[in-house]
Amino acid sequence: MAECARVTATTLLRLKERGEKISCVTSYDASFTCLLEDAGVEIVLVGDSLGMVLQGHDSTLPVTMEDMVYHASCVARAGRSALRIVDMPFMSYSRVDQALDNAARLMREGGAQMVKLEGGEQVSGIVAALTAQGIPVCGHLGLIPQSVHQLGGYRVQGRDAESAQRLRDDALLLQEAGASALVLECIPTALAKQVSESLKIPTIGIGAGPECDGQVLVLYDLLGITPGKRPGFSHNFLEHAADIPAALRAYVEAVKAGSFPAQQHSFD
Ligand code: KIV
Repeated sequence: MAECARVTATTLLRLKERGEKISCVTSYDASFTCLLEDAGVEIVLVGDSLGMVLQGHDSTLPVTMEDMVYHASCVARAGRSALRIVDMPFMSYSRVDQALDNAARLMREGGAQMVKLEGGEQVSGIVAALTAQGIPVCGHLGLIPQSVHQLGGYRVQGRDAESAQRLRDDALLLQEAGASALVLECIPTALAKQVSESLKIPTIGIGAGPECDGQVLVLYDLLGITPGKRPGFSHNFLEHAADIPAALRAYVEAVKAGSFPAQQHSFD
């Protein structure tokens, strides 16, 4: 098999500078990781969404460090080219010493190349401590699922002037703290555009419109196999594809071409 170049945080910066969209999909196992890399995704995210789509919970809160290490290591065994970002689960980064230990474990045992954690100002000190130790970090703002009970449900964030300003400030704080990338979930298109333009680091959107530097979808939503109602910002790429590899290629092509997400997958 031909050697493929590894995607790193530097690659993501170059893609942003060149205006080339970044494609990211969640993965929780070895087989899908191979298919995703063959389709050309730059990032595989071992998301704590596994608590919902694999384990059947109604939130990501029950997901443990053991779950994340197990699935990250399954993904890492197959990973060759894509950057592997692994979610830090709920309450695994509430203190600096705990966050350092858990991030180190995700890297050592789970093969993570970057860790992702949710929140703005309240986690900026944690982000700074992790990046000071050479641990690359991806931030996550907007609809942060680990705070679903505080947010009062899975709903679009940043719609009023005050929360939009807080999100813009938080994005800059995370960049200053050393974050290498930032997921923006379920925020208005115009706000995501402002944040993306204000940052040097790439933004990866989900329900955040087409102006982000990249896009991420939960694998099971992309394939239309998530039980229950599919999130409105998602799209079933398997519906008009011959098979799963073709659906994954169609997603990567649509992200690169800027045709996904379209207006019906975005919020005002
Ligand atoms: O856990 C996850 O899959 C995520 C994405 C929705 C961005 O955080």
